[in-house]
Amino acid sequence: MTTSHTNVGETQVPAKMALTELATMKRQGTPIAMVTAYDAAGGRLAEAAGIDVVLIGDSAAMVVLGHESTVPVTMDEMLFMTRAVASGVRRPLVVGDMPFGSYQVSNADAVRNAVRFIKEGRADTVKLEGAGRMLPRVRAIVESGIPVMGHLGLTPQSATALGGYKAQGRTAVRARRMLSDALALQEAGCYSIVLEAVPTPVAARITAELEIPTIGIGAGPACDGQVLVYHDLLGLTEGHTARFVKRYADLSTVIREALAAFVADVRSGAYPEERHTYGMPADELAAFEADSQPKP
Ligand code: KIV
Repeated sequence: MTTSHTNVGETQVPAKMALTELATMKRQGTPIAMVTAYDAAGGRLAEAAGIDVVLIGDSAAMVVLGHESTVPVTMDEMLFMTRAVASGVRRPLVVGDMPFGSYQVSNADAVRNAVRFIKEGRADTVKLEGAGRMLPRVRAIVESGIPVMGHLGLTPQSATALGGYKAQGRTAVRARRMLSDALALQEAGCYSIVLEAVPTPVAARITAELEIPTIGIGAGPACDGQVLVYHDLLGLTEGHTARFVKRYADLSTVIREALAAFVADVRSGAYPEERHTYGMPADELAAFEADSQPKP
């Protein structure tokens, strides 16, 4: 895709990715690249790499805040990270992930919290999990003027009810239900749907039946785009990762080695060197030393 720009004074600012561009990418068969990010530096690096969509995922609960699931992260924590990412990003679409409890209770809650993502977090759109009882929430948010990305398959906010972190839609009945949920989300106004941990043929069928793009994570190559969690992709996650994770770097090792080198330099006195320090004019130093003689 070619990137359009708008001129602000002397500088060219890349135009924000439009939802219609994502639809065009699906129609033209150009895969959409999406990644999560949780701070301005991550957002900036994602944009520099050519990422189309940046998701401030509620995976932050686990990879940033150290919780065991996505459930505990709060609206205020999500808004804090969303605002940081949005400040580092110009072109990619910024999607705020609505945390557990922020939309389940009522349409009014859902709209109020979606509005907070746009106004306070400076997100462009929001994402929420599920269909069924969540369809009225999607409709209410879309009617308030905020675009919604859906999320089906393994929906981590309801992992306990789904029987753990495992692939979904693996029987004919469940696959058919997922297809009808995806069609219902499209009908309710979603502009895109994440499919997580879904068998390849099921995701392929859903992708073929929908007009809106699907973004897969563990859903095979037929999806219109792919998403990975930043920490997983960069090798910052320690311990077990899901089958669908591909590590493109081993930043844990790079960071651990750099920090250990710093510790060694501090202990040995090798850091700081002369070039890392500041001096002062000789006359000021002389005056300072004269003034600061210990009082008799
Ligand atoms: O929270 C998250 O990071 C997500 C992605 C896995 C899609 O929802």
